[in-house]
Parts: sequence; structure tokens; C-alpha cells
Amino acid sequence: MFPKEVYLRRRQVLLQKMREAGESGLILFIGNAEAPAQYKDNCYKWRQDSSWLYFFGLDEPLMAAVLDIDSGAETLFADDVEIDDIIWMGPQPSVRSKADAVGIAYTAPYAAVENPVELAKKSGRPIHYLAPSRYYNTLRLMQLLGCASIDKGVSLPLTQAVISMRLIKEDIEIAALDAACALGYEMHSVARDSIALGIVEQEIVGRMESVALAKGWGVSFPTILTQHGETLHNHGHAAVVEPGKLMVIDAGVESNEHYASDFTRTYPTSGKFTQKQREIYEIVYECNELAFSLTKPGVTYREVHLATARKMLEGLSALGLVHGDLDEMVAFGIAGLFQPHGLGHNMGLDVHDMEDLGENLVGYDPDQQRARQLGLGSLRMARRLRPGHVITDEPGIYFIPALIEKFKKEGLGGSFVNYAALESYYDFGGIRLEDDVLVTPTGARRLGPHRLPIAPDDVEAALAAAR
Ligand code: GLY
Ligand code: MN
Repeated sequence: MFPKEVYLRRRQVLLQKMREAGESGLILFIGNAEAPAQYKDNCYKWRQDSSWLYFFGLDEPLMAAVLDIDSGAETLFADDVEIDDIIWMGPQPSVRSKADAVGIAYTAPYAAVENPVELAKKSGRPIHYLAPSRYYNTLRLMQLLGCASIDKGVSLPLTQAVISMRLIKEDIEIAALDAACALGYEMHSVARDSIALGIVEQEIVGRMESVALAKGWGVSFPTILTQHGETLHNHGHAAVVEPGKLMVIDAGVESNEHYASDFTRTYPTSGKFTQKQREIYEIVYECNELAFSLTKPGVTYREVHLATARKMLEGLSALGLVHGDLDEMVAFGIAGLFQPHGLGHNMGLDVHDMEDLGENLVGYDPDQQRARQLGLGSLRMARRLRPGHVITDEPGIYFIPALIEKFKKEGLGGSFVNYAALESYYDFGGIRLEDDVLVTPTGARRLGPHRLPIAPDDVEAALAAAR
């Protein structure tokens, strides 16, 4: 947890933002509850709600809070442990001491959160709440507010105020993100050094995730480690490592402070790239470098996405896989055939930061519209960059036979795609290269103490050093 002043200040800023937006009434936060996996006492690994962590820091289940926008009063609702809890969980600090640790003046039992909510309902005072990320919180809100659906009542001013705060990382968060990226670097290094022909992918996953578990909270999302990188979120790890393949490893650590890292590297399983692999790898590498070089305040990440799309098409054009005017191809959306995802996303307490609050609200400025095109339409962060934004840059090239066939059959590639040449890439797989980047006042810096080897020669040297 951060010092008490951090949480106090954040809540004061939030209340002030709400007042400045002309809002009044209550802000209601519901922390997460334990989620049973098979039965009540065997739960999924505990994880607190990220907005709760941001404003309250308290990393425990069954807590709620009410902030009064008009009076500034803050109340924490939680229960002190009783003897049954002590038998199973041991003694716990009092609710009062937990409230003190984050600077909250009033406490009340968990169930008593109904009281201010009822009072506000009766007197017609607005009750602001965020879109919940879990079903329990949805049900609890439905119960408290007495409505069959809570979607329409989600507070846009509150959502916008929270996003505006969480998007711009404070120094204390940047230090936490650097630490998460240091662990991510360590985990990825173990993964890379564990690649060996004949072993099952799962064994590499086990070795690498042990770093996340030994030194942090765990992984920040289910690890992607696959010789079928063309399947973007491939979570199967049953395959044996074969020669001549490309292995995509896309994985991150969540630190004990719950900040995420998210790196991707792609390795030739045999230790050296084939010429064909290297040609495509070089293009993705150049796109990654270009994205970083363009990342600075004032530029939109949409522009950076489009610039890397152009670079990618330039490289694919040189290989004869596409042909035509580069700007026309970008406008037509040809890059989406090879990279059906966006260049990156926000990162912070969540690996895809705040997407529970609404992808477009988080990733798009009010004057920006999300495109519908394949690839660009999946861009989760398009905003004009500001110092303090933390984003990923993760260009990729994938050869997805079913998608190429669809483009061919339905004429989706216009006259730009050389389908005959693409046939020899149907068993190529995919390549993605991802770093985590902080936007600084003058440009950008990659998070973490070191950058994972990424230039093709450096990747081969790192693989050779481990064998
Ligand atoms: N690294 C996984 C993702 O960004 O979706
Ligand atoms: Mn990512």
C-alpha cells in the first residue's frame, strides 16, 4: 500500500472534480468479494477491484465506501472479524485501523451501506457509481439501488473523473510500474532461456510463471506462449517445442502492489531465424522502433498506429506480399489483414487499464471516433498522448490462413494483396514485439531497468547464451 496521504489526496481530487463538473450527491464504491471456484470456501485467487485499490488501497474482500460530494464526508463500510473468522483466518486489524491507514474518518458495518443509499434515494440525491467489473458487484448494486439493471445508472461524470486521474500516472505509480516491469523482464528472461526442442510448452510456462509467483502477485493476464502466434490470444500450452518454429511469448507480471507489466517477444525455436522468419521479424522490429520514436506528447496514438501500419505495408510490399500505393493501402485497411489488433493499450493497475470502465471512454478523446476497420477498429488507445500515459507498443504480423482466404473470397483486399505469394506463409505463424512505455514531457521512455533483447542478432545471441 502507498502512504495514507496518497489515498486521501486522490479522493479529495475526485470530489473536487465532481464538484467542478456541477455534480452533487454520493459516490458509492463497492469493493470485490471472494468468488467461489467450485464451492463457497474454495475461491478463485483473491484480487481487489482496481478502482477500489486506487482510491482506498485496502486489499480485502467485502468493503464498500460512500463519499459525500457535498459535505466531503467519507465512510468505510466493513465488518470486524468475529471468533469464527479468527479461527479460520487468524486475528485481523480492526476496521477502524484500516480506515485510519487510508485516512477515512467514519466506519460502519458492511451491511449499513444501505442506510446512506436509502436516504439519498428518498431525498432524490444522485448516487454515482462506476460500471462494475464483477457480477457480485453488479448484484450488490442492483440490490442496494433496487433496480433490475444498473447499466443506465452508471455515472458518466464519475467515470470520466476516475479515468482522467488513473490515466495520468503519478510518480509513485511509475516507480511501481518500473518494478513490475523489472519482474516482467526477469520472467521473460527465464522463459527465453527455457526454450528447448522437445519440451512441452507448459513446462516453459511453469518455469516462467514461478518468477511471477515468487516475487509478485502472479501473472497480469493468462500467459500466451505458443508456436501458433497467428492465434492472437492462444492460451493452449500442450504442444511440444519443434524446430524451425516461431514462439510468441506474451506475458506480464502483476506486482504485489498490483501494477502490471506486459511484454511480448518472439523467438526462433531452433535458435536462429530462417531467412523468411528474419525478413518478417525485421519489419515488426522496425514498426516497434518507429512506434517508440513517434511516442511523445501531442501526438495521438491513433497516428502512431497508422504510421506503423504504413511501415508494415512498406516492408510487406518490399517482399512482394502486397502492392500499391502505401497511403491508399493504409486507408483501405490492408494492414488489418496482417495485424488485426491495435498498436497498444493503456496499462496500470490493470494490464488493459480501466477497460471495465469502458474501452472507448478510456482509450478515446471526446473528439475521436473508433474506426470499424479490422485492426484499427481494435485500437484500444487512440488518445492524444500526455506525459504520464503508460501504454504498450505491440506491433505484430500474423499469417492467419482463414482470414487470408476470407479476404481473397470476399475481395476484401481490393487489388492490393498478392494472395498467391501469401500461400507459402500459411504455416509461418505470427510475430509480435511489445514493450511498455511511459510518455514523458519530452518524449517517451521504456519502463523497467532493461529492455529485453529485441534486435534479431541480439535475440539469437541471447538464445545461444542459454544453450
Ligand atoms: N498482452 C496481451 C494483450 O495485450 O492483450
Ligand atoms: Mn499488451
